[in-house]
Amino acid sequence: MKSSKRNILITGGAGFIGSHVVRLFVNKYPDYQIFNLDALTYAGNLENIKDIENAANYHFLKADITDADQMKALFRKYKFDSVIHLAAESHVDRSISNPKIFVETNVTGTLNLMEAALGIWKEDLQHKLFYHISTDEVYGTLGETGFFTETTSYAPNSPYSASKAASDHFVRAYGETYNLPYVISNCSNNYGPNQFPEKLIPLFINNIIENKALPVYGDGKYTRDWLYVLDHAKAIDLIFHKGNKKSTYNVGGFNEWQNIDLIKLLCEIMDKKLDKNEGESETLITFIKDRPGHDKRYAIDAGKINKELGWEPSVTFEEGLAKTIDWYLENSEWIKAVVSGSYQEYYKKQYT
Ligand code: NAD
Ligand code: TYD
Repeated sequence: MKSSKRNILITGGAGFIGSHVVRLFVNKYPDYQIFNLDALTYAGNLENIKDIENAANYHFLKADITDADQMKALFRKYKFDSVIHLAAESHVDRSISNPKIFVETNVTGTLNLMEAALGIWKEDLQHKLFYHISTDEVYGTLGETGFFTETTSYAPNSPYSASKAASDHFVRAYGETYNLPYVISNCSNNYGPNQFPEKLIPLFINNIIENKALPVYGDGKYTRDWLYVLDHAKAIDLIFHKGNKKSTYNVGGFNEWQNIDLIKLLCEIMDKKLDKNEGESETLITFIKDRPGHDKRYAIDAGKINKELGWEPSVTFEEGLAKTIDWYLENSEWIKAVVSGSYQEYYKKQYT
C-alpha cells in the first residue's frame, strides 16, 4: 500500500491486539484517517486506547460486524479504502462452550465486511486492500518437531480455529472469485499489555496477584510460540504496506515454551516483584481437567516475512514478559474494571 492519504477501517481496535495496531497507525501515520470499528463486547474496552482518543486522525465507530446493513452504510458513508480486520471472538475455551457466536462473528462478520467493501470498491480495485488477521491455530497441531509454514494444510481442532479457518478460506475465495485485493497473516500466541485476563499469561498474572489457584490444563506439557504484541503490530504495519496481495504471511516469535515451564518462570518473576518468598507463587499451581481437543504444539516458521519484508521480533521474551508484568502491576484499576460483572460468571463456569 502506498503511503499517502488513506481512510483505513480497523476492526476490533478496542480489543487486545487491535488497540496496539490502532495506536501504532494513529501515531505513525498522521495523514491516514483511522476508523476504529468495535462492538465493545466483553473483550473490547475503550480504556485500551484512551491516550489517542483525541487525536485528529482517529475516529471511533461503535458497530457490530454481524450487521450487514450497518457495514454497508458505514462503507458508503466513510469510503474506507482499506480494512485491517481484527474483530473476532478470540478465546478457545469460550468457543467450546458457545461455538455459534464464533461462526456469527468470525465467519459471517468477515463476509459482511468483504461484501460492504466490494460494494464500494468493485468499480476500482486499485489501491484497495482487505487485510484479514488470522491465527496459527488454523493449522491444527504439531508433533514434537516441525513448523507451520504458509503451505501447511489447514486442520483446525477447536470451534475457534475452525471459525478462523473458515474466514480465511472465504477471504481467499473472495480474492479468486470477485478479485478482492486481500492479504492474510497467521500469527502465533500474542502476549503483552491490555490482554483480557482469560488468556494464559494475564489470567495467571492476575491470579498470582490475587493469590488464587493457577489452573493448568492436563499435564501442562503443551507448547505455544509466544510473540510480544507490539512486534505483531509492527508485522501488521509491514504487511499492510509491503505485503504481496493475494498471499499469506506467518508471523511468530521463534519462542517456544511448554506451558508449565512458562508458568514456573512467571511465578519466579512474580515472587520477586511482589516480595514473596521464593517458590511461593508456584504453590498456587493446580492441575485441572484438560481442555477438549487441546492442540499439543504450535510453532511458526516466520521465514517468509523475515526474508521478504525483513521482519523479526524486536523484543526478547524476558523483556516482553517483564514489561507485561509491570503493566499489569501498574494498572490494577484496568484489571478491576474488566474482571467485574460477567467475568465472574465466566470464571465460575470455566473453572469450578
Ligand atoms: P480480543 O478478544 O482481545 O478483541 C476482539 C475485539 O473485537 C474486541 O474489542 C471486541 O469488542 C471486538 N468484537 C468482537 N465481536 C465483534 C463484533 N461482532 N463486531 C465488532 N467488534 C467485535 O482479540 P485479540 O486477542 O486482540 O485478537 C484480535 C485478532 O487477532 C482476532 O482476529 C484473533 O483471531 C487474532 N489473533 C489473536 C492472537 C492472540 O494471541 N490473541 C493470535 C493470532 C491471531
Ligand atoms: P490460551 O492463552 O487460551 O491460548 P490458545 O489456547 O489460543 O493457545 O492458552 C495458552 C495455553 O495455556 C494453552 O495450551 C492452554 C493453556 N491454558 C491453561 O493451561 N490454563 C488456562 O486457564 C488457560 C486459559 C490456558
